[in-house]
Amino acid sequence: MPSVLFVCLGNICRSPMAEAIFLAKLRQRGFESRYRVDSAGTGAWHAGETADPRTLATLKRHEIPYNGRARAVRLTDFSEFDYLVAMDQANVDDLLRLKPLDSQAVIARLLEWDPEAPTHDVPDPYYGGPEGFENIYRLIDQATTELLNELELDESP
Ligand code: 4NP
Repeated sequence: MPSVLFVCLGNICRSPMAEAIFLAKLRQRGFESRYRVDSAGTGAWHAGETADPRTLATLKRHEIPYNGRARAVRLTDFSEFDYLVAMDQANVDDLLRLKPLDSQAVIARLLEWDPEAPTHDVPDPYYGGPEGFENIYRLIDQATTELLNELELDESP
């Protein structure tokens, strides 16, 4: 079963949004049971917390549910997930520092799946206004469609 872990810094803004949007696309296609999906942060400051209220409000506006709690990346993630999909280059750098030598996990930025994206990093919206959350919604929405299309191609016989 393909498995995807979305990763950002705090696991309260970007990666939970990516997890929720990706899960919604799986549901739309009836593929929920075919994938394992989760999200985590390279930092643990917000572990145990619900997602940022602005992330939840943005998801709600798009009628996407989310009730996950923040957690930090753990070493077992590198063996349990096929793809560690990071939001920005700092997340990739942090993951590469943690990655055990025998891990086969693919570590890449989400926007690498969207050649048309205006940037390579999903910008951290934490210290900005609400428009930042709608902006990352659009980036994540487009790129997760491309990601899912590619994973489905890999899965086809
Ligand atoms: P995220 O945003 O990485 O998209 O969840 C952040 C959330 C919290 C902090 C930084 C980024 N923080 O410094 O607490």
